[in-house]
Amino acid sequence: ALHESFSPKLEARQRTTNHLQPYASTFKVAVLGAAGGIGQPLALLIKMSPLVSALHLYDIANVKGVAADLSHCNTPSQVLDFTGPAELANCLKEVDVVVIPAGVPRKPGMTRDDLFNINANIVKTLIEAVADNCPDALIHIISNPVNSTVPIAAEVLKQKGVYNPKKLFGVSTLDVVRANTFVAQKKGLKLIDVDVPVVGGHAGITILPLLSKTRPSTTFTDKEVEELTARIQNAGTEVVEAKAGAGSATLSMAYAAARFVESSLRALDGDADVYECSFIQSDLNELPFFASRVKLGKEGVEDVISADLQGLTEFEEKALEALKPELRASIEKGVAFVHKQP
Ligand code: NAD
Ligand code: LMR
Repeated sequence: ALHESFSPKLEARQRTTNHLQPYASTFKVAVLGAAGGIGQPLALLIKMSPLVSALHLYDIANVKGVAADLSHCNTPSQVLDFTGPAELANCLKEVDVVVIPAGVPRKPGMTRDDLFNINANIVKTLIEAVADNCPDALIHIISNPVNSTVPIAAEVLKQKGVYNPKKLFGVSTLDVVRANTFVAQKKGLKLIDVDVPVVGGHAGITILPLLSKTRPSTTFTDKEVEELTARIQNAGTEVVEAKAGAGSATLSMAYAAARFVESSLRALDGDADVYECSFIQSDLNELPFFASRVKLGKEGVEDVISADLQGLTEFEEKALEALKPELRASIEKGVAFVHKQP
């Protein structure tokens, strides 16, 4: 076996493989809340990425085993575990992307806002550490309520003097993933082709799929629009009810978050054609944060795509106006939370 590794044939094959390697660089990614329902499958999917050289897994408990387990996969990234606040700073040093799925999930009968009291503190504490240890990293926030936790993160980063609005993202990819799936099913389209932009926020009626902007161009009856919109807006609750007390979406969320991580890494690597929907600080309208399609680049958000919001249908215009008060209140609640801290 040893002499094989020096064989010219194998060397030639390795050279060819390296030559075909499409990526110039590799990156360090940290997952905070990595032992959880989302964290574990998300860590697995990130471990599969050829763009990742180091995967740092942080949680308050149970992360050692997750990291030991994952580290046996023969993919390039090195997996390291970090347990508890004393190890958080080391987890974050020199990291390019931080993904945060830490926090409690919903049970049947709860809204995402019912998670505010617990998750606001968790996100605030984790973002303080991000600000101190990797202020240049892209930050992906999954913890709910996203409509409030992203503004919380922004205020914490501002207080620390390191806020870069181009690098703070609320992960709303799951809404797009769901919209694409449900539309393809309803219209009998090939899944791979379907792309539906989803704007607004990530809770109930603040989730607004722009079905009129579906690509490839697709027509819907009024009834189809109503049913699809309601299904996309309630899809999180659909999973919470099916899990009957055992939590909310974890596997589809991990899939969606891994897609957003991969897109971000491709953009950091210099790919000039990366677009995703995300909940970000925005000046598309009067709301300070708003989800829309954005172009990702080496410095984070490179462009906010306003075209999707032009030429909306009457249904979409009404839904957009209807979501604004709730979304504004959730944003303001997040901002107020940080400012009322002693
Ligand atoms: P979970 O309870 O299975 O896992 C959460 C993990 O966070 C646990 O391992 C826990 O130990 C850890 N944790 C708690 N406090 C922490 C802290 N201070 N620091 C680090 N880790 C901490 O929950 P889950 O199903 O993985 O969901 C996590 C969050 O993601 C929930 O708030 C849920 O609502 C949200 N979520 C968001 C979306 C979205 O589309 N953005 C989708 C699904 C779930
Ligand atoms: C989702 O959309 O699945 C998540 O936000 C989790 C939830 O509470 O619905």
